[in-house]
Amino acid sequence: MSEPGITPSFQRTLHGDASRQQDTPSLTTLVSDLVAEARALPVSGKVANYIPALAEVDPNRVALAMATIDGQVVGAGEADHRFSIQSLSKIFGLTMAMNRVGDSLWKRVNMEPSGQSFNSIVQLEWEHGIPRNPFINAGAILVADVLNSHYSSSKQALLRFVRQLALCESIYADDKVYRSEKQTGNRNAALAYLMKSFGNIESDVTAALDHYFYQCALALSCKEMAKALSFLANRGVHPFSGQQVCSRRDAHRINAILSTSGMYNQSGEFAFTVGLPAKSGVGGGIVAIVPGYGVIAAYSPRLNDFGNSVQAMHMITRMAEELGLSVF
Ligand code: DON
Repeated sequence: MSEPGITPSFQRTLHGDASRQQDTPSLTTLVSDLVAEARALPVSGKVANYIPALAEVDPNRVALAMATIDGQVVGAGEADHRFSIQSLSKIFGLTMAMNRVGDSLWKRVNMEPSGQSFNSIVQLEWEHGIPRNPFINAGAILVADVLNSHYSSSKQALLRFVRQLALCESIYADDKVYRSEKQTGNRNAALAYLMKSFGNIESDVTAALDHYFYQCALALSCKEMAKALSFLANRGVHPFSGQQVCSRRDAHRINAILSTSGMYNQSGEFAFTVGLPAKSGVGGGIVAIVPGYGVIAAYSPRLNDFGNSVQAMHMITRMAEELGLSVF
């Protein structure tokens, strides 16, 4: 396979900068350089410790990968190391629920930014148990409830779906992380019971939470994450398998909600500085979708005050700058 090209095709046509291509390094070099740059940053941020198993990860890991819709996968640093994807998994759950129940989903969850922390309770009370969006914890628990009531074994269905998207049968949910969160997830339980009190959770609360905790405990590498989400950069069609994962309309809609809500209450700043639909997880991963080009996945466990990885944000910001990737 040839060395991955670097200038996104939409950039060449939209901005007419084909001449840059000769002067820029290859994508492989850029990805390696950005990992080196992230490793050299002054240490800042803290590893999530409110889920005890997450506090045990090596804080110094750094990884970056990109999967392009023409079938290239490039990685650097620990791009094959599997990490706890946490909230990145909310994209998988949402895609499955949209496929399964269609537009009726949007009667039970909104698509507005929350402006609150990802596990805030107060807004859910004011808004009668309807979560602001599917990427805050309440919204993802609601989605977990939908999956739980529409599949005989929603955890197995989810695992099958993610394995298929990542093209890898060995993907698993980390049992230690799953149990750890199950034992300590009292705030998530509070969100779920509050929604149940408003009649917005159909199944047994513990079953919905069980799916949610399992989903958050999935472990994937940056290369696997980038491949698994590549359908969102390609109008719903998985570029590696040719599978129509979701409709073109739903791929656009998922990207839209990622743009406004995927980075929690740093979403505005991320849109302003990076300009890509993206999602973070407290395990330290961030994925960013570049429509028409590919998916960037970055990982490093130290988080800023919003719960977003400091070094992963840095690498994605720099890559978007270098390649002029903003969708705005
Ligand atoms: O429910 C939780 O709090 C975690 N399992 C997931 C939160 C998360 O990743 C938020 N992301 N920034």
